[in-house]
Amino acid sequence: MKLNLVEEKVHTELEIIVVKNKNIKEDKDILEKVDFKGEEDSSALLAELGKLYVGCGEPTSDNIRVAVASAMRTFGKTNFDVASIKAGEFLKEVVEGIELGSYEFTKYKSKNEDKKEKTINIIVKKVDDTTIEIFEDAVNLSNSVNMVRDFVNTTPEDFYPKIMAKKAKKIAIENDLEIKIFGEKYFKEQKMGAISAVGRASRHESRLIHLTYKPQGEICKKIILIGKGLTYDSGGLSLKPADFMVTMKSDKSGGSAVLGIMNAIAKMKLPFEVHGIVGAVENMIGGDAYKPDDVLVAKNGKTIEVRNTDAEGRLVLADCLCYAQDEIKDFDYMIDYATLTGACVVGVGHYTTGIMGNNIELNNQLQKSALKSGELATVLHFNKYLKKTLKSKIADICNISNTRYGGAITAGMFLDEFITEENKQKWVHCDIAGPAFVEEVWGCNPEGASGAGVRFTVEFFKDLL
Ligand code: BES
Ligand code: ZN
Ligand code: ZN
Repeated sequence: MKLNLVEEKVHTELEIIVVKNKNIKEDKDILEKVDFKGEEDSSALLAELGKLYVGCGEPTSDNIRVAVASAMRTFGKTNFDVASIKAGEFLKEVVEGIELGSYEFTKYKSKNEDKKEKTINIIVKKVDDTTIEIFEDAVNLSNSVNMVRDFVNTTPEDFYPKIMAKKAKKIAIENDLEIKIFGEKYFKEQKMGAISAVGRASRHESRLIHLTYKPQGEICKKIILIGKGLTYDSGGLSLKPADFMVTMKSDKSGGSAVLGIMNAIAKMKLPFEVHGIVGAVENMIGGDAYKPDDVLVAKNGKTIEVRNTDAEGRLVLADCLCYAQDEIKDFDYMIDYATLTGACVVGVGHYTTGIMGNNIELNNQLQKSALKSGELATVLHFNKYLKKTLKSKIADICNISNTRYGGAITAGMFLDEFITEENKQKWVHCDIAGPAFVEEVWGCNPEGASGAGVRFTVEFFKDLL
């Protein structure tokens, strides 16, 4: 999609009109004939008039974004090549709606018809520095989300730890970021027994990726982002049932989100020092696989009794959290992103991120930024009773809880074991297992990967300014 920012109505084949509060201004008779009342989630294509109406209900930021995204899906199916849309006071939302709504993943379609690139003219009152900045920020943010969607949708055969590191390198080169990439040898040297065990049965060597963005000028805050990058999660020897294994290419969503956020903040030149750390690992079966009954030693020396090899994400994150706290000093916040538990999806549904941590205020702050950005999130609270369910008889802690209830929280509390006392209040855990990958179109998200985490984190950064 080619986007132009224009002041005047230039030549256009299709005019996109977002109807707010069911307030239809023109074409009333014909719209009545096609039963279009301007309600949320409704649309009417008046092809002969060259008009596409979409209803948005109450004109909130997200309703506008979603209405524009839905208009894009309709526009995409037509043979119109050029469309126009008035931005009004919603330039950011309109740009995001266009970019996020027109995303398609066609890599594996053999009949990948050479679709002609379409154009959208976004009409604003004035093309000045302010509008150009809003426009460019929204384009950079949306492109980063779409990049994450591409990573997550790519199959495990084409996207394994080495490829994830390659993608990170490309982002680093493009944005002038520092990058360090570590493999198994480093894990052995550093006694990172948890991440090391999870990837052992895979033919693909694990990687720990560490990207650093340092802004020019004053640094406002120092932030660490950590992502679970399971390029495939078969469950390991505690093998997943067939139906549950499908879609597990999406287990790299947390790590992919971290790469997307690094790309976005660098492009937007935000005044934060940001470290992006990704544990890229494949969880497989085989003669060399780690086993239920094994006891692993994490980087901080804690011993972990493995009772289920499918609770692997927390093992990878444990060593990544230790690495971050050992290597990066005096940071302000540390946020992790992971498709960590099916329990989180059961608890809060497919569309919502579960936010956890010891700092309730910080959790709430992140949730607020999420809702503002158009992503859904809810806070799940830790408690001392659930903490006890992670006790092990033979090691310091067990990698699963002794109860099947509260699984999202117990997973979060497992991670808390790897946060040092001084960092307890700085850390937030985001379980994105629900929204990261949904097999249906929802809001401005396509079927498949959504790029969850990117928009809400960038909003959180902006709210810190
Ligand atoms: N990657 C899964 C969690 C998941 C499930 C993500 C569904 C997205 C959709 C994770 O590694 C896992 O398998 N967790 C187990 C934990 C259990 C063994 C304690 C789960 O949720 O069943
Ligand atoms: Zn698993
Ligand atoms: Zn997993």
